[in-house]
Amino acid sequence: MASDFVGASAATEVNQFGYRSFTVGECTFDRDEYFAYITWPIGHHVMSVDDFLRAAQRDVAWDFFYGVVNFDDVFGTINNYSSVDLFAGRFNDAYRKAELDHVARVETAEIREVFKNILADWTNAGFDPFASPTETGTAFGSKNGSNLEAISRRRVAAKRMVGASGDEVLRNDENGHPVNRMFADVPQDEPEIYAEPGFESEVASFNLFAYLSRSQVTWNPSVVSVCRDSLYCPTTEEYVLPIIHGNDRVEWFVQLSDEIVWDVEDRETGAKRANVVMKAGDVAAMPADIRHQGYSPKRSMLLVWENASAAIPELVKSGRVPPQPVVF
Ligand SMILES: [Fe+2]
Repeated sequence: MASDFVGASAATEVNQFGYRSFTVGECTFDRDEYFAYITWPIGHHVMSVDDFLRAAQRDVAWDFFYGVVNFDDVFGTINNYSSVDLFAGRFNDAYRKAELDHVARVETAEIREVFKNILADWTNAGFDPFASPTETGTAFGSKNGSNLEAISRRRVAAKRMVGASGDEVLRNDENGHPVNRMFADVPQDEPEIYAEPGFESEVASFNLFAYLSRSQVTWNPSVVSVCRDSLYCPTTEEYVLPIIHGNDRVEWFVQLSDEIVWDVEDRETGAKRANVVMKAGDVAAMPADIRHQGYSPKRSMLLVWENASAAIPELVKSGRVPPQPVVF
């Protein structure tokens, strides 16, 4: 692991396609009409720019999330929760063996700012990195305006629970959350609450299926209820999870509707470990030593249950807790 912080440079002048280049963590980022190019001192990598923008959007929106956000099998970020490691080839067996892997530690505020600037500069008008492919325009071509509204959405983060007094509000047509085309059959009725007098502001309830049917975005877990470190983070999924998530703790998945197929690989090497087909009602625990990517052929609802305790990554790393929640 790198120990010294690596600084960012100011953005450059625009290239022939109208885009700027950016540097952070000893990595330089360039784009043209189709591709994002990442260059580090001893290597380089190319990604389709729509995939790059979808991954960068999640990394920024989730503030580098839990553990590892692999943009693909070469490039990504590791969240140290006070800093971020930017890497290339770190979790790729071939890069490791050839000693072509690169890791640089960066201040979280700095990489957040650079990634936000890349998103702002490289996202054209009409392209929404959060949307499913059939609900957005193209990411490709020369520089064509921007879509700051789409890339700066506020992430839902309930303090107690959606719908509770003073907390995140329910979604409806009026506040810009129409029912998604694939959830037209989801009932929209809300529970009736009969609170004891004096407890009206202490009792809350909402229809989670109706709430999720009105999500505009895909693959974006948002916090809808909190009990100490226990976070319910449901999300709606369609097409492919734009990142490969390397866990640093166990995550529970509850498939609330439809179907997702998960590719599960070894976190360190990327070796295949399992293929998990989750149908509505299925429950799975993703271990702390894997990475996973999901495929959702139709828009589906997934409940991700996270334990946000800051103590867990070290407990797993030191072997004091096993990487899986149950031993059969
Ligand atoms: Fe995960």
